[in-house]
Amino acid sequence: EPWRVLVTRSFPEAGLLLLREEPNLEVVIPDEPDASDAMPYDKMKKMLAEAPGYDALLCFLTDKIDAELLDSAGSRLKTVSTMSVGYNHMDVAACTDRKLSLGHTPDVLTNTVADFILGVLIATCRRIPAGVKVVKDDVWGKWAPLYMCGRDVHHATVGIMGLGRIGMAVAKRLAGFDCEILYSDAFRMDERAATVGATYVEFDDLLARSDIVIPLCPLTAETTGLFDATAFGKMKKTAVLVNCSRGEIVNQDALYDALKNGTIWAAGLDVTVPEPLPASDKLVGLENCMIVPHMASATVACREDMARIAARNVIAAHRGEKLPHAVPGTSK
Ligand code: GLV
Ligand code: GLV
Repeated sequence: EPWRVLVTRSFPEAGLLLLREEPNLEVVIPDEPDASDAMPYDKMKKMLAEAPGYDALLCFLTDKIDAELLDSAGSRLKTVSTMSVGYNHMDVAACTDRKLSLGHTPDVLTNTVADFILGVLIATCRRIPAGVKVVKDDVWGKWAPLYMCGRDVHHATVGIMGLGRIGMAVAKRLAGFDCEILYSDAFRMDERAATVGATYVEFDDLLARSDIVIPLCPLTAETTGLFDATAFGKMKKTAVLVNCSRGEIVNQDALYDALKNGTIWAAGLDVTVPEPLPASDKLVGLENCMIVPHMASATVACREDMARIAARNVIAAHRGEKLPHAVPGTSK
């Protein structure tokens, strides 16, 4: 009997091809009402529960994978593969309790995301969105000594919270801007940090000393709301926050107040709560807050690579092999 793989929404051809080439694999992708949308949770649960069931679930960061969903899938399910590096949308403990292997897509997006973070950082510091807006609105003001002035990136002190793969790639790029790079992390890793010229500091020091603060830690219970009113209060009034990790790391009400009251100078966000963030949200109305729609890994090549890896994780599980990109801390 072939292995049945449920892919929860439309999936790049690059990954689909690999799945289709694998013998004895049956791929099911729902085509209604619109597979370009995330599959509603209840539909996913119902599909997983229906006989004959599925051996593999290929999902996305828009899918909530919790104990209840896994129970509906029953014992036929053996592996869950997400086409994302982040796995905070999955209950990892619930998966390992049920002996499921778990795959994600690190590495292939590191450089693509790091490039984008530099883009958000520069755009925010140099007020590029505000500049674009005055031109489009036909209110390009006369040149003046302080017209459109922002903050320098070169020689800035940049604090990276979480020196993982992406943090390292950002630090490497910032070295080219002669930045002083500080990092904080649950783990100190001096040797690794030294290769990009990053210096370890306590989180409070990172907040106090940095001109630009970049959270790049995974979303966990410890990092949820890490950037709250207290944290913003410790930052420089001239500081810029660049968040391309997960929206939940920042307390958005506190961020709004900090930006509005000048506790910090500006923010550039690729991630928010909720996503999509409606234009009516108070953060969207702030001139010193640039928001883009969770697109840091969005290049054609990167998303194709991510799709291939998500497919390869499923294929490895099918062959009874170790997943090439297992979620850290999961055994298979
Ligand atoms: C993007 O946010 C990802 O986790 O891949
Ligand atoms: C996080 O997954 C990273 O690659 O830094």
